[in-house]
Amino acid sequence: MTQKRAEASLEHLRRVFTVPEGDDSTLARIDREISRNLAGFLKDHIVSEEREPAKLERDFMESSMPEDPCFVSEEARFLLEKVVAQSVHTASPAFIGHMTSAIPYFMLPLAKIMIALNQNTVKIETSKAFTPLESQVLGILHRLVYGRSPGFNDGFYRKWIQNRDHALGVFCSGGTVANLTGLWVARNRMLAPREGFAGVSEDGVIAGMRAWGFDHLVVLVSKRGHYSLKKSCDVLGLGKRNLVVVDTINHRIDIADLRRKIAEQKARRAGIIAMVGVAGTTETGHVDPLDEMADVATEHGIHFHVDGAWGAPTLFSERYRPLLKGIERADSVIVDAHKQLYVPVGAGMTLFKDPLALDSVEQTAQYIIRKGSRDLGKHTLEGTRPGMAMLVHSGLHVLGRKGYEMLIDLGIGKAGQFAKIIQASDDFELTTEPELNLLTYRYVPDWARDCLKSASPHAAARINDALSDLTEQVQKTERARGKTFVSRTRFELPQHHSQPCTVFRVVLANPLTTRQILGEILDEQRQIAKDLLDGATGRKLRAACAAAKP
Ligand SMILES: Cc1ncc(COP(=O)(O)O)c(C=O)c1O
Repeated sequence: MTQKRAEASLEHLRRVFTVPEGDDSTLARIDREISRNLAGFLKDHIVSEEREPAKLERDFMESSMPEDPCFVSEEARFLLEKVVAQSVHTASPAFIGHMTSAIPYFMLPLAKIMIALNQNTVKIETSKAFTPLESQVLGILHRLVYGRSPGFNDGFYRKWIQNRDHALGVFCSGGTVANLTGLWVARNRMLAPREGFAGVSEDGVIAGMRAWGFDHLVVLVSKRGHYSLKKSCDVLGLGKRNLVVVDTINHRIDIADLRRKIAEQKARRAGIIAMVGVAGTTETGHVDPLDEMADVATEHGIHFHVDGAWGAPTLFSERYRPLLKGIERADSVIVDAHKQLYVPVGAGMTLFKDPLALDSVEQTAQYIIRKGSRDLGKHTLEGTRPGMAMLVHSGLHVLGRKGYEMLIDLGIGKAGQFAKIIQASDDFELTTEPELNLLTYRYVPDWARDCLKSASPHAAARINDALSDLTEQVQKTERARGKTFVSRTRFELPQHHSQPCTVFRVVLANPLTTRQILGEILDEQRQIAKDLLDGATGRKLRAACAAAKP
């Protein structure tokens, strides 16, 4: 598609920077349509059939920079035809495969304010009211996590919420940077300055290990931990192999193995930077026994970090809050606002129980983030950042605790209902019971189920392999059809001799997903599976079952 070129002129520049396009321009029309009916606009413009990535790439092969400008209306047309049409309808109630889901409608006009103002929250000189607003949002979430602990009362929050030298937490682009920030602080606090050593941030990891007498530095997390923790270990100079993986029992960290691994690490003279509890694992939504982990952390004096990227907002719910018992004992907790706080992508937070914790990463400079200033950039890993906290503020106020509570309760309730539907069917198998609003399952025809029951571990492995192929193909076919979407993942199933199996993964965060839609998803998958079982996939599964017969 070639775009009509405009003329490069001062006039053109002036127009794109200042005067909105005329009322009848494509851009103005799109703006009106979006404002009137965002959901309808997206539905009309997103083409749901899957196109090969290679075909999509053909529209984006040009590497030379266009010399002359084009009209905004032309670019808008290109975006509609080539980008919007081939984007993913994450807001669809039948899109229940990932942690990126619908956002409430009011975010759209409010986001325009944020973009139009173009504040930069690194320093107060470019963000003014956005700076205390961000601190307030961090304070509200800090109170959600820690506010029921002794001492975390009105007086505490009055003292710290807008403190110019210290912070209750930091805002960032998402869970990955939030985890990195938590571990960064943990590392710097552990390898603190001491005689002859200026601290790890000044002298580096090697000098830090020497000064503190460690041969290694490690972080512990269960095998369901998010891969961003590996990246953190890499970036912080620990090395990915020093992310020590702890076994799980029913997808939650095994406390006995945690204790064993701590002892092993101490024996090899490793400094334990942190142990990470997961509140809502990415794959199955399980919550580690945080209270017991906090006991272990206290006993050994280890920094306790909780990855609540997904699950921390469960604290809004009076009913389900107890699932996260112990989170208030964590030294640091992360929350992804673009997950269950329902703001657009690009917002995460790390909260620290101790308002002085972030001192260990404080950075000042001459022209900005000066010592004694209120600049948020003193404590953030990132420099220039958008005013995303504004949208979190809006979510917290427009929905309120009760609104978020309803969203959480709805999601978890729906996951329970979906699990029951799956369990009641004779051809789907629930592979993980939902604890929050995630669950996994797979299609197993009744005859294969019978074979599995009596099969030896060796024979079961063959059957499970064939079932994994089937699951993968069903998921890919469903995705290609584009009507509904669930994702897939692979892990060992304790109920099947701990053999690795591919399973469907469902995330129930969209309040508009109905029981009927869930039923339709199962019907579609059942139909696809039956078709596939008529072909090579079916032959493989039948052969595996025949071989399992005594
Ligand atoms: C438990 C958990 N932690 C961390 C992350 C990373 O978050 P982000 O993708 O926002 O960087 C995710 C993302 O899904 C997650 O599920």
